[in-house]
Amino acid sequence: SIIQDAVKTAVRFVPDRWLPGASPDPLREKHGLLGAPISRVDGPLKVAGQARFAAEVPMEGLAYATLVHSTIARGHITSLDTSKAEAAPGVVLVMTHENAPRMNAPAMFMSRPDAVGASDLPVMQNRDIHWNGEPVALVLAETQEQADHAATLVKVEYESATAVTDFQAAKLAAHHPQSILGEPPLFEIGDAEKELNEAHHRVDLVFRTPRHNHNAIELHGATVRWDGDELTVHDATQMLNGTAGTLAEIFGINPDQVHVSSPYVGGGFGGKALWNHQILAAAASRLSGRPVRIVLSRESVFRIVGGRTTTEQRVALGAERNGSLRALIHTGTVAMTEHNNCPEQFTFPARHLYASKSFRLEQSVADMDMMANTFMRAPGESVGTFALECALDELAEQMELDPIELRRRIEPEKDPTSNNPFSSRYLLQCFEQGGERFGWNRRDPKPGARREGEWLVGLGCATGTYPYHRMPGGSARIRIEADGSAVVSTAVHEMGMGTATVQAQAAAARLGLPLEKVRFDYGDTSLPKGVLAGGSTQTASISAAVIAANDELVKELIRLAGNDSPLAGLGADKLEARDEGLASVDEPGRHETYASILARAGRDHLEVEAAAPPPLEMMKYSMHSTAAQFAEVRVNSVTGEVRVCRMLGSFDCGRILNAKTATSQFRGGMIMGIGLALTEETLFDPRSGRIMNPSLAEYHVPVHMDVPEIEVMWTDIPDPHAPLGARGIGEIGITGVAAAIANAVYNATGRRVRDLPITLDKLL
Ligand code: MOS
Repeated sequence: SIIQDAVKTAVRFVPDRWLPGASPDPLREKHGLLGAPISRVDGPLKVAGQARFAAEVPMEGLAYATLVHSTIARGHITSLDTSKAEAAPGVVLVMTHENAPRMNAPAMFMSRPDAVGASDLPVMQNRDIHWNGEPVALVLAETQEQADHAATLVKVEYESATAVTDFQAAKLAAHHPQSILGEPPLFEIGDAEKELNEAHHRVDLVFRTPRHNHNAIELHGATVRWDGDELTVHDATQMLNGTAGTLAEIFGINPDQVHVSSPYVGGGFGGKALWNHQILAAAASRLSGRPVRIVLSRESVFRIVGGRTTTEQRVALGAERNGSLRALIHTGTVAMTEHNNCPEQFTFPARHLYASKSFRLEQSVADMDMMANTFMRAPGESVGTFALECALDELAEQMELDPIELRRRIEPEKDPTSNNPFSSRYLLQCFEQGGERFGWNRRDPKPGARREGEWLVGLGCATGTYPYHRMPGGSARIRIEADGSAVVSTAVHEMGMGTATVQAQAAAARLGLPLEKVRFDYGDTSLPKGVLAGGSTQTASISAAVIAANDELVKELIRLAGNDSPLAGLGADKLEARDEGLASVDEPGRHETYASILARAGRDHLEVEAAAPPPLEMMKYSMHSTAAQFAEVRVNSVTGEVRVCRMLGSFDCGRILNAKTATSQFRGGMIMGIGLALTEETLFDPRSGRIMNPSLAEYHVPVHMDVPEIEVMWTDIPDPHAPLGARGIGEIGITGVAAAIANAVYNATGRRVRDLPITLDKLL
């Protein structure tokens, strides 16, 4: 960390032109193909049912797996009786800790590069139980139905130990500081408690958010096969290389002996990671000598795939009469297990959003005996902005200020805690333009002022935010074929968000080719090492690698073109890509196509590969996307039912690379925000730690009838320090939404609900 700090300080003095992410990228300002609302390149295959997902890959002699889950939260297995299951029709194998192959424990996320274990607990290696739902047996059979049936015949007896399964009890029992994203657990500027006490206006509030489960439409699934010591995994994953590396270590083989393929993923949101099921499927395949398919039931997804963890947050704000902040305090606790590395870093937004004289930001962890939690769309920011932005709304009301006006008065000139300049920030423009379009000026600040029959109507707004990150370690390959067409490839992911489409667009624009002459290959570890799809980083990370590969390509093309080319004598800085080849920047007539360069050089293709440079731009600049979220709600005064009837998201995320897929990303995030605000909640039985609502019938995600017309708009101002000028859009959509809805509910009813979800019982 001393080294990290020294690097950070040094990078501040590095000229921009040395920054890899800041080298002038001609595409940053280029419109046309880039930004156009191109339909998904993978759309037709999906609509036709021809896109083959992980659990659809055919294999000769496939056996099907089902898991048996523990029914206690902590303790150990005292007896196992698998005889009835083994005798059931079609059963190939019943695997338990008694016969499972010996495996190394998974390496946990962030413990080293490419480690993606959600937990470092050994998988089915001993009789110990760590959470209610832990797999205790895997049944393999000739059909899924036979495996499901036989799984019900496995008899397991346990001895329970005392388990911590209640959050409030956990806070008392085991409660310790948690460092956030490598930063110390406590971040302070000045004496925030003292400033709070002396401030003219004060709010000091507690907010609570519940546990959430991942519910992608595509269930977690994998089809696996061993060929000797080589393991092939067709997986639904957002982390190809990490899955290969971590599985290799678990089975004691080399990373290049694990081949992971994942061309299509039916939704990820942070949950399509390496969980017990892929590991157990590979183990069962090794033990049985059969290829294995595992598709988790929806219930099994609830039992073994972690989600967003519970938070309890305090936000205290102290303001002067003029509106400036004297104190910004954001502290609180999350629940985790001891074998987990994913704190919901809810204090992160408060580091970067607003100017304040003093800060106190601190998180701690309460250890519980439960399923490890993991990333879920905007971990930290989605629930952190709920607390912070609701508290600001309460402060604005106390000050008799419009909440947007309050945000104007606390807008910082530079990052308020790192003091780095913002690379690009237009939050106030988002509020102004979004507010105008939404009709914010029609809001009556007095709660309960608008009534239509038995419905109370209210408007609310909030800030959304998500950081720019670029992952190190990704590479890309560009191959130009004899006909001048191109294939760009890297082991990255398409989970429905538009990666394949946007990268094809960007590659075509960069190479001066029509879209039809470019293919983007992804989703397979046989390709150059890519980055994981997480943290809204893929687009920038891939782009940086493609830029590096393109630099190599241009060098090679100049070399191949030689002295007989119209381009002879021109260096890379005097060339641009257009009309299916390279051209002189200054003399438009000097041009040669890729096909012509290759033909003259007698080459049937040209291939280059390069790695992205390290993401130093993140150290020099404070890089964040921001948004203004608006919601209009109707609350039934008789039943307490809340309906969101209108939403608008106004985003500043740098360049928007595809208007159609971006709109879907933003809307999807906002819809997930409706679930966060109003319906989603994993219910645990506090006596046993068992999840009580492990189905879509009982765990409510927003459905079509819950979702109103959602308007989306954006600034489209390129970030001068991000490749392509784009900061990533996958997660920001959900941020700020719960606060905008809660603030609208207050405006409608005069009731502040500070614990999510806002169900009708809390309004009656
Ligand atoms: Mo996202 S929670 O980084 O898939």
